[in-house]
Amino acid sequence: MQSRFEPVALAHACRLINHGPTVLVTSRHGDKRNIMAAAWSMPVEFSPPRIAIVIDKATFSRELIAASGHFGVCIPTASFVQQTYAVGSVSGREGDKFERFGIASFDGPVLGVPLIEDGAAAWMECRLIPEAHTEDAYDTCFAEVVSAAADPLAFSGGHWQFSDANASLHTLHHLGAGNFVVAGKVISAAKPAAS
Ligand SMILES: Cc1cc2nc3c(=O)[nH]c(=O)nc-3n(C[C@H](O)[C@H](O)[C@H](O)COP(=O)(O)O)c2cc1C
Repeated sequence: MQSRFEPVALAHACRLINHGPTVLVTSRHGDKRNIMAAAWSMPVEFSPPRIAIVIDKATFSRELIAASGHFGVCIPTASFVQQTYAVGSVSGREGDKFERFGIASFDGPVLGVPLIEDGAAAWMECRLIPEAHTEDAYDTCFAEVVSAAADPLAFSGGHWQFSDANASLHTLHHLGAGNFVVAGKVISAAKPAAS
């Protein structure tokens, strides 16, 4: 696939989710693949870059991720709000959600997880960190980011660049019940004066 995304340095990968966007978690094991929405994710380690993401033990995604040890994190844009809500509202156990909702994917360069660029501003490939507590009791999954890329129209120089000019690429932030706000007006703080 011809990608318009550019690689994101791993040292900057956690910045892709630092501002709390709703993400799409993708997974594959054997001939099954899946995609779900997740609002709860965060960076947890600088180097190597590690993230935490809450993936309900009851989901089909969790089953595929536990079996494969990998998952993808795609960051949907305002233009993808309908698909984002849809993949978070039905389970992949009922059928392939990529086909059902017309979502185009390609295989990630390092782990081969399904990734999306049409409707997304960035993606990461993640390797699950085996954790006894996660397997037994918790919904929180820890993972190391092993590759990342972003649309240079929305993320460049290691930072999100949101403006009126790229409104359709702004990220989604879930308020609940299918309502979202988009990453909005940027306000910049000045450096504190030297004391
Ligand atoms: C906007 C949105 C955000 C969501 N955030 C989370 C989340 O952070 N963690 C989670 O486990 N489920 C979350 N869900 C619910 C899952 O996406 C949902 O249970 C999904 O159907 C699971 O799909 P699966 O069984 O195919 O894996 C969210 C749903 C929506 C619509």
